[in-house]
Amino acid sequence: IENGLARTPAMGFNNWNATNCRAEFDEQMVRQIADIFVARGLRDAGYTYVNLDDCWALPNRDGAGNLVPDPVRFPNGIKAVADYVHGRGLKFGIYTSAGTKTCNSLGFPGAIGHEQQDANTFASWGVDYLKYDNCGDHLGQSAQDRYTRMRDALLATGRPILFSICEWGSNAPWDWAQPVGNSWRTTGDIEDNWNSMLAIFKANVGLAVNAQRGGWNDPDMLEVGNGGMTDTEYRSHFSLWAMMNAPLLIGSDLRSDGQSTFDILTNRDVIALNQDGLGVQATEIANADGHHVLTKPLDNGDVAVALFNETGSTATFGTTASAAGLGNATSYQLRDLWSKAVTTSTGAVSASVPAHATVVYRVSRAGTFTPPPAGTTQVSALT
Ligand code: DGJ
Repeated sequence: IENGLARTPAMGFNNWNATNCRAEFDEQMVRQIADIFVARGLRDAGYTYVNLDDCWALPNRDGAGNLVPDPVRFPNGIKAVADYVHGRGLKFGIYTSAGTKTCNSLGFPGAIGHEQQDANTFASWGVDYLKYDNCGDHLGQSAQDRYTRMRDALLATGRPILFSICEWGSNAPWDWAQPVGNSWRTTGDIEDNWNSMLAIFKANVGLAVNAQRGGWNDPDMLEVGNGGMTDTEYRSHFSLWAMMNAPLLIGSDLRSDGQSTFDILTNRDVIALNQDGLGVQATEIANADGHHVLTKPLDNGDVAVALFNETGSTATFGTTASAAGLGNATSYQLRDLWSKAVTTSTGAVSASVPAHATVVYRVSRAGTFTPPPAGTTQVSALT
């Protein structure tokens, strides 16, 4: 959607993968996450949104039909939390559903039939991001109609509110949601295990053509740090989500994460691929027996190449610079964005990739430009 937001994929935090609906999800948690964003360099690395998921509200609206924050979890209301988050130079997000109820079995209110009222409430609280789920009764209305109605309600508030569509890929949103939302989930919920991450990667990677600046495929939030995968697998998860221009929403409890989790989440070279100004989701150019090759053109002319080894044993595989779209040059520079090693190549872009690992290279053309002789005027080095 051309609402000026999500010019690159959103980056931030959402509590759901870490807490679900448990009581630890409360005002104190949100404040502490915002503090950690600042103190641990996440804000500086580009993470901006601190978002609430399901279970922030009371099960019933008030007499005027307004949503009411749960006074146990949020004793000072939502606006106070949003103010706190804003005070740390961050943005604040909230959640509701495009039906009569949210997904939790306690049955919190959804927004269908209350779209403008709820959008106005969110705007009055200072909300910058809405995740709009798909639970409850849809009252016979199509997903496209329900999500479009909330898009219009958000726009009518006059406040810039990033709109995250969460209908789990059920209605092929990649075909209709580009003018409706800033992102759309392409699958059901991720779980903190290798098979779930892998299945979601495979479902999302073929949708590259449907993503563009302002509207992104969303393969769900990150599980990095939640403990169900190895660090190697989490690096693959993060690398693949970055390459696929997924929203990068941290889903672990930063208050208890170890240093290795922070190291993965703050790899600026990998983040730079996700946030690149060209806004092109990576394409899978090969997958031979689980040896996946993804390429992603970047706005300075470089190409990112990810070599993802789905299999259980180390393998050497790759591609060539020309197949990756870098034309024919005499040499290339390959920068490994995890090890930081830099090598040169006459064209091969390959690596020995351990089981479940991903090697990510940023590949630059070198030797394509011959400096003009001394005394001449250089008009244009690159076209
Ligand atoms: C389903 C969504 O896909 C999840 O991400 C989460 O928001 C839950 N609903 C909350 O109930």
